[in-house]
Amino acid sequence: MHITIINGPNLNMLGIREPNIYGRETYADLCSKITNYCQSNNIGCDIYQSNHEGDLVDKIQSCYGKSDGIVINPAAYTHTSVAILDAVKAVGIPTVEVHISDVSRREDFRQVSYIRQACCKTITGHGTDGYIEAIEFLIEFLKESLCR
Ligand code: DQA
Repeated sequence: MHITIINGPNLNMLGIREPNIYGRETYADLCSKITNYCQSNNIGCDIYQSNHEGDLVDKIQSCYGKSDGIVINPAAYTHTSVAILDAVKAVGIPTVEVHISDVSRREDFRQVSYIRQACCKTITGHGTDGYIEAIEFLIEFLKESLCR
């Protein structure tokens, strides 16, 4: 099983950006947490971050035929990007949307998620542990899909 983790703009600034909202863990801490979890559970993973919408679309497309599942935090592009939604629909790979903060309790403009309709689950407000929950969900989801 191979899972791709994709992070959108400003998530490389974790630990520095608005720590009252996103916490003090750095992006490197997040990557280690994911890598350690995947190694201990015998899951292949690759982790990608970009500040550019088109690069995120390219990364999603590159998962076709390679990844069994995607965990994505599109960050600000969550609230604006039809292109990222279309890319997830195009590849048809089970995808979980993750947000570190609880977007449901934040500004009105964060209440819209374009990608959500193409995702099998959304996890918000669980900090960086949300990424691990997303991977755990995908493992079970993919096992069940294989049994069907
Ligand atoms: C975020 C929430 C978004 O609204 C914001 O633009 C981000 C991070 C989160 O992880 O909580 O950059 O996706």
